[in-house]
Amino acid sequence: MNQTTDALIHEYFSTGTLAYLPDSHFIDGSWRASAGRETLEVFDPGLGKAFTTVAAGDEEDVDAAVSAADAATRGPWRKMLPADRSRILLRAAEAIRSNAARLAVIETLDNGKTLAEAQSDVRNTARIFEYYAGIADKLQGETIPLGADHFACTQLEPVGVTAHIIPWNYPISTAARGLAPALAAGCTAVLKPAEQTPLSALLLAGLLHQAGLPPGVCNVVNGTGSQVGSALTSHPKVRHVTFTGSVNTGIHVMQAAARNIASVTLELGGKSPAIVLADADLDAAVEDVLWAIYSNAGQICSAGSRLIIERSVHEHFVERLAERARQLRFGHGLRNPDIGAITTPEQLQKIDAYVDGARSRGVRIAAGGRRVCDPASDAGWFFQPTLLDNLPIHDPLVQEEVFGPVLSVQVADNVEHALELANATPFGLAAGIYTRDFSHAMRLARDLDAGQIYINEYFAGGVETPFGGNKRSGFGREKGLEGLRAYYAVKTVTARI
Ligand code: NAI
Ligand code: MG
Repeated sequence: MNQTTDALIHEYFSTGTLAYLPDSHFIDGSWRASAGRETLEVFDPGLGKAFTTVAAGDEEDVDAAVSAADAATRGPWRKMLPADRSRILLRAAEAIRSNAARLAVIETLDNGKTLAEAQSDVRNTARIFEYYAGIADKLQGETIPLGADHFACTQLEPVGVTAHIIPWNYPISTAARGLAPALAAGCTAVLKPAEQTPLSALLLAGLLHQAGLPPGVCNVVNGTGSQVGSALTSHPKVRHVTFTGSVNTGIHVMQAAARNIASVTLELGGKSPAIVLADADLDAAVEDVLWAIYSNAGQICSAGSRLIIERSVHEHFVERLAERARQLRFGHGLRNPDIGAITTPEQLQKIDAYVDGARSRGVRIAAGGRRVCDPASDAGWFFQPTLLDNLPIHDPLVQEEVFGPVLSVQVADNVEHALELANATPFGLAAGIYTRDFSHAMRLARDLDAGQIYINEYFAGGVETPFGGNKRSGFGREKGLEGLRAYYAVKTVTARI
């Protein structure tokens, strides 16, 4: 099955699907059909057409998966040398790399993103496993001096069964971002992919198994939030829930976990500003701000969805940005355009309604503003890269997450005003700063209420750098060494000697 990218693309466009797609759950080391007989259609957003189906689970499937994960906490995974756990995770990284062509094509079909974006997500996924493989045998406690008559130390123990609820915008890399540290810490996992994008998580579970992960350590149950998601987050044997998605669902997840005193990590999106001061390298900033919002067709929790621009350069900067936005080619992800599709028709409808609302309030639309189709097939779910100029602070397009290729521009009189505008939303995920003035950059970095600050390069960082939000963007951090904390408990052993 080691086909090339070109062969897979040819197969898809000539048959309308791909052979050997996963269609069941992955529970206790094997592929399983649903307890019930429900299925979900899997759509290609680039054509707006279903290309396969997968089993849709219910409470019974969740219980089977959690029971397998719970039994696995007492099995070989728990007793294995940490160095052997590390080797399995490294082999998983290699398996992801050697299956990269297939993973990326399938991710493009399932999600609608461009092939280049999916290829980059797959590379990141391999890198995430590699990074956490390196820490599996270095998670260690401390000794604590209590005087001559005592000995005290801490041990870091896996929390147990972890649940992972994944959204549809970065299916494979978000799954990896939670699974890899959980497994490195010795936990077991049950993952629910978004019902719109189930395929890559299933492929990933299969590769982990091939790499030597014992049965039950990583399970995947497909299905809707109301059936599988809520059964999983409220299961009494789940000790930690890692959730990425909307604020409202995050509230449900936290309430469900609270009943079992299970801990949660919530990564809930944002309305992140890119602040461009007049002294910035404006050529570089135009290109950076462009991709801060239009990458992945704007369906990124940390997208730079607001541009806060100093008044003296506002007109010039927005004009150049609009010109660049109009040049971007959109289309089916496998044709590798600049911008791919919107993953769901509901999301497309939501984006359209937000932009219509702005239009009816008389907001100037400097670029885009309309739904469009893949030019080659006249089908699919697309939205033009859109630029809304000079929005007042209380406009919904400034305060609410659109989750699409829509950039809202706010004009600032000076750096203090830029800071005030930047912090005046309910979110606090990321913020970009563009300036050549070191003092301005560092003062803004200090005062911005956000989990990530990017100076002169939006999205700078990698698996090494912690990621998470403040305020309604959530809490807890993923990635980096911080990303491990959710997955181990500290046990203190104190002895009189
Ligand atoms: P959602 O938050 O409902 O879905 C995310 C995941 O949660 C999916 O796997 C879903 O099945 C699951 N889920 C839904 N209800 C659940 C429940 N009661 N218990 C447990 N799990 C549940 O998001 P949705 O409806 O797909 O998108 C709505 C909006 O959310 C988007 O327009 C966007 O603004 C935001 N969003 C933010 C993301 C982020 O990266 N922070 C990712 C996806 C969506
Ligand atoms: Mg899909």
